[in-house]
Amino acid sequence: MSDNSEHSSGPAPAIDPDRPHPARIYDYLLGGACNFAPDREFADRFIAAVPEAKTAALLNRDFLRRAVRESRAAGITQFLDLGSGIPAVGNVHDTVPDARVVYVDNDPIAVAHSEIVLGDSDRAVALLANMLDTEAVLGAPATRELIDFEQPVAVLMVAILHFVAEPQEAVRRYIEVMAPGSVLVISHGTGEAELPGTDRVVELYAETGTPGVDRGKADLLALVEGLEVLEPGVVWTPQWRPDTEPDGRDPRESMAYALVARKP
Ligand SMILES: C[S@@+](CC[C@H](N)C(=O)[O-])C[C@H]1O[C@@H](n2cnc3c(N)ncnc32)[C@H](O)[C@@H]1O
Repeated sequence: MSDNSEHSSGPAPAIDPDRPHPARIYDYLLGGACNFAPDREFADRFIAAVPEAKTAALLNRDFLRRAVRESRAAGITQFLDLGSGIPAVGNVHDTVPDARVVYVDNDPIAVAHSEIVLGDSDRAVALLANMLDTEAVLGAPATRELIDFEQPVAVLMVAILHFVAEPQEAVRRYIEVMAPGSVLVISHGTGEAELPGTDRVVELYAETGTPGVDRGKADLLALVEGLEVLEPGVVWTPQWRPDTEPDGRDPRESMAYALVARKP
């Protein structure tokens, strides 16, 4: 596990265009245009080490869309999207137009782009905050205005926790404030994929200001202890309630587990 100094709950980091950043690396992997040369160079080395990297990003984004859609089908209309990233195809408010959404990211570029996309929407806002600073997130005027924690909410931690060394306390706090019937949506990169090169991912991300943390199925289940893990359990992202026929590809190419857990 990496040291926690890069993951403090202090102020959001300043923009450093010379250093690759996870939000922009991911944007590049998804085919976006909101990235700088160091992000692209890093991503290209990532792809050289793990050729499935782009596929994994797309599969993760697809999981996000399905989990949000299923949450809406279960009656949830409010979403707290932690580590929401740079807007891309399948943003929560695009998938669920009648949703109230608070997007949270500690990357100023991701938040600035979200603000542009959201315009003067009164249903969705972007908040610059560290998800570990739970009281800043939960107590922000935007959160208090849009999310009623007396009602079920979907708290999204999609492809964020593998950048957080010690998320346990914060995850506990979010679970604590969630009303019964709420869901916690998680996807998380894992070396348990055991594909060639995946053992290099943590080492590669150590070069960025946001080192990666490898977790397995047991770690994720421990994080959501007390919640009911919904069917089909902790699975590779493309295996979570797929809406297309299996394409014969190895689901481990996603390099990430997915789960949705419900508060009883
Ligand atoms: C790989 S992107 C995932 C984006 C989106 N959730 C998705 O899955 O499509 C991870 C995002 O988490 C953000 N992030 C990492 N650590 C964070 C933290 N402690 N607090 C808030 N955001 C964080 C990064 O800035 C980045 O935008």
